[in-house]
Amino acid sequence: MSQAELPRLTVIGTGYLGATHAICMASLGYDVVGLDVDAGKIQKLRSGQVPFFEPGLPELLAKTLESGRLRFTTSYEEAAEHGDIHFICVGTPQQPGLDACDLSHVEAAVRGLAPHLTRRCLVVGKSTVPVGTASTLTGLLRELAPAGEEVELAWNPEFLREGFAVDDTLRPDRLVFGVTSDWARDRLTAAFQPILDLGTPTVVTDLATAELVKMAANSFLATKISYINAMAEVCEATGADVRDLAQALAYDDRIGGRFLQPGLGFGGGCLPKDIRAFAHRAEEIGVGQAVSFLREVDAINRRRRSRTIDLVRELLDGRLDGARIACLGAAFKPNSDDIRDAPALDVARTMHGLGATVRVYDPAALDNARRAYPELRYGTSAMDVAQDADVVVLLTEWTEFRQIDPTVLAQTVRHRRIVDGRHALDSATWRQAGWEYRALGRP
Ligand code: UDX
Repeated sequence: MSQAELPRLTVIGTGYLGATHAICMASLGYDVVGLDVDAGKIQKLRSGQVPFFEPGLPELLAKTLESGRLRFTTSYEEAAEHGDIHFICVGTPQQPGLDACDLSHVEAAVRGLAPHLTRRCLVVGKSTVPVGTASTLTGLLRELAPAGEEVELAWNPEFLREGFAVDDTLRPDRLVFGVTSDWARDRLTAAFQPILDLGTPTVVTDLATAELVKMAANSFLATKISYINAMAEVCEATGADVRDLAQALAYDDRIGGRFLQPGLGFGGGCLPKDIRAFAHRAEEIGVGQAVSFLREVDAINRRRRSRTIDLVRELLDGRLDGARIACLGAAFKPNSDDIRDAPALDVARTMHGLGATVRVYDPAALDNARRAYPELRYGTSAMDVAQDADVVVLLTEWTEFRQIDPTVLAQTVRHRRIVDGRHALDSATWRQAGWEYRALGRP
């Protein structure tokens, strides 16, 4: 396809998903306008700054800005004027105090864009939404758009992982096109041609299935993690070793080793809220029983956090009050500065609440953590926070923590005691260096 034939794209919402999508699509040769209602975010992106931590993305932003194929705006009018295809990439967080998903941003995006849609175009939802949302939004879109029935809605869920966002966007495992017409399918094909040319498997389906694929995928991943963590609980009661158990399971191709890492469990902006929203929607539509196990998946995951604190308490002979605790990690996973529902910070805050003096270090998430939890103390390195510590707790498996030399760290702590919340360290090496080493699900 020549440059002139490529559909012109807009991306509504330039958070994690949207900024990555806009930048990657521009890098593939498309003419892209990114829109956000947050003028500060737009200003940053225009000046070449990615407002979050994502390896490889700043370099790609610089390149695409320079190419002239990527622009940013706060004007829906400008976006509507530009785009043949509009991707909706705004957030769908959990509603405060409820399990349900907050769709207000998605609705606001449709309400902002639709009144300016005066010609035939495709609006494509990428945000993770409860099944049935697309059908409701189609009505709203056509009611508000001057072009009426000429505007179509499709759903194209996004599966990118933080830390691998560029690669996951440019070389996804699969593409899912939820459409209601051949025209919409052809438009999506044109929008993803360079990725399809790589041989990327594509599933063309209806809107409801496309919405469900994302919820089902994240639920499956969360279930796999909680499954191995449930096995860790059984191991703890029997003296068995969950690491060896996981390794043995992983050799079975039917099970596979990915997402079978036991430890402190899952967090982040997706898995926890998605399984809750899924269970909630299933109950609303009368099939709650079918996914009621997701409540248990959530409960197992939350128990890992309290059990990690139990291990710290055991090392302190039952007294957290007054103890000095070094927390290594704040982000919900390594290679990210995201602290949404971060197990690490949950553990740190709870120990602080129980009277411990908690000091936290993270290679990327300190600014976010400090802003969200000013009551905690923060340090500049693992060595710094470990000074005079009674217990060191590894909560996020950053490579720099895996590489810590136990004999060097031993020189700064008050007591050589470590809880490895992510099974990231070699227990034998640490024990040989004189450390009391504890990990969930291991003797
Ligand atoms: C997830 C999905 O993987 C992605 O497809 C979707 O689009 C968004 O949600 P992300 O939130 O970036 O991506 O993180 P992911 O790498 O999936 O990890 C989620 C959590 O699970 C992290 O807290 C991680 O530490 C934890 N995890 C992961 C485990 O505890 N054990 C594992 O084996 C794998």
